[in-house]
Amino acid sequence: MICLGIESTAHTFGAGIVRQEGSSVEILANVKDTYTSEKAGIVPKEAAEHHINCFDRIIRQALSDAKIRVSDIDLISFSQGPGLGPCLRIGAFVARSLACALEKPIIGVNHCIAHLEIGRLATNASDPVLMYASGANTQIIAFEGGKYRIFGETLDMGIGNMIDTFARHMGIGFPGGPKIYQLSLGGRKYIKLPYAVKGMDVSFSGILTNIQQKYDSKKYSAEDLCYSLQETIFAMLVEVSERAMAHCGKSELVLGGGVACNKRLQEMAGIMCAERHAKAYFPPPDLLVDNGAMIAWLGLLEHLSGVRMKISETGIRPYERTDDIDAKWHSEKKKYFIKE
Ligand code: ATP
Ligand code: FE2
Repeated sequence: MICLGIESTAHTFGAGIVRQEGSSVEILANVKDTYTSEKAGIVPKEAAEHHINCFDRIIRQALSDAKIRVSDIDLISFSQGPGLGPCLRIGAFVARSLACALEKPIIGVNHCIAHLEIGRLATNASDPVLMYASGANTQIIAFEGGKYRIFGETLDMGIGNMIDTFARHMGIGFPGGPKIYQLSLGGRKYIKLPYAVKGMDVSFSGILTNIQQKYDSKKYSAEDLCYSLQETIFAMLVEVSERAMAHCGKSELVLGGGVACNKRLQEMAGIMCAERHAKAYFPPPDLLVDNGAMIAWLGLLEHLSGVRMKISETGIRPYERTDDIDAKWHSEKKKYFIKE
């Protein structure tokens, strides 16, 4: 079965094509284009405009990479939520139009769970805790009692948005994550910042204000500030992840989201897991950031477990929660492997 997955929750418009035959899974294509703005944060209307302007090219490129015709597609899936309404609407519209024109089934999927499922597939982890660290989202998720439940999350902004906002404050552009990482490598001194773990949750807005004030005071080098920022906020994520692993009795940790591309975060997660005789898994960067292949894969998983949607059920869900979803495919415990 071949699924075309469409991602459009925020900056990225992505189209992924995944083929499943028995337990074998092949990512045939994973194409994307990302809206960027140097000065402001994301302007939802502009990002939606970006998606309108590129969807045709991205989908054609995906079909060409996959070496299939549009008529070979058996299923269309798209990100139904959570995300920015104007952006989600474009992906949903494109998916619905294709499904109607091709007379193929359509399925709307949860974006956060897609990060988790592609991580499980790419790493062969079976029942992990997911540390999901992206622009807008920061959640610690695990499967318990038939659902993916959020064990901890940010109480205010997402970790990536926080990093990107600080990068903009320093005038080093967007996306800030890779640039802050580069600067952190030159850091020598740890500068104390607020550490904001509240139970299983984390908070970033106070740390952002504090580090912006420190930067403006000109008393500290950008390198030391970036180093200290990473050490502090990544330690917070690692702490809550470890607590979720202990609480659920799970011995695998999978990282997801664009911020999880950061090598220092991966290193810290690896050290924590090694100390508790657990295993940390890091999917490749093109599957960590927002992408269409993860949406195609979750669409396939849901379809294979019997989920069907009518067009009338494919409205967007900008505020959908991870624990709103009945993850029945997970309970079936089927194993899939990426075909090399
Ligand atoms: P959502 O929150 O809906 O998942 P998003 O578009 O913000 O959407 P991602 O693409 O998963 O999410 O992540 C974007 C974040 O990842 C940005 O904050 C960016 O700075 C960071 N990032 C991307 N690549 C890297 C990298 N190589 N190293 C460090 N950070 C990175
Ligand atoms: Fe994401």
